[in-house]
Amino acid sequence: MAPLAKTQEVWKALDRLAATAASSEQLMTAIVKLLHETMLKYNWVGFYMLEREANPPMLILGPFQGAMTPHTRIPLNQGICGAAASTGKTVVVDDVKSDPRYLACSIETKSEIVVPIFVKGKVVGELDIDSHFPAAFTTEDRDLVERTAQAVGEFLEKSSR
Ligand code: SME
Repeated sequence: MAPLAKTQEVWKALDRLAATAASSEQLMTAIVKLLHETMLKYNWVGFYMLEREANPPMLILGPFQGAMTPHTRIPLNQGICGAAASTGKTVVVDDVKSDPRYLACSIETKSEIVVPIFVKGKVVGELDIDSHFPAAFTTEDRDLVERTAQAVGEFLEKSSR
């Protein structure tokens, strides 16, 4: 399948998942599986959820697909993950070796994208994807990952009402 057609298939599948998931945990579990299986350059796909009450506030590893990571708890002042959560901005790193913030999860990882998830304007977590390929995350990938993170935020917002 052409990459664009594949992305559109994933978008459709995401809409279905968001409409039918019984819980946010189930939605996130289904999303990491979908992205990891469908998008061939997405070699590690996982969520980190922000525990604001922890001292210091901490990103806690949630559902993921790929090799186990040593980084199950990340403070906001560490890593690409901490940077995305503390600024509330998507971070795309084309070459992880050249970014001093990078916390290594696998020696095979070459590039990474981290997209914050918001509920009522506040960061509650993030979607983190690693690739074994340099500069794997194009504008189209960024759109896909941002839309996915947004769908999770909307689901969380709905279920917290
Ligand atoms: N690379 C991330 C840490 C998480 S692992 O990649 C799964 C970072 O620099 O924050």
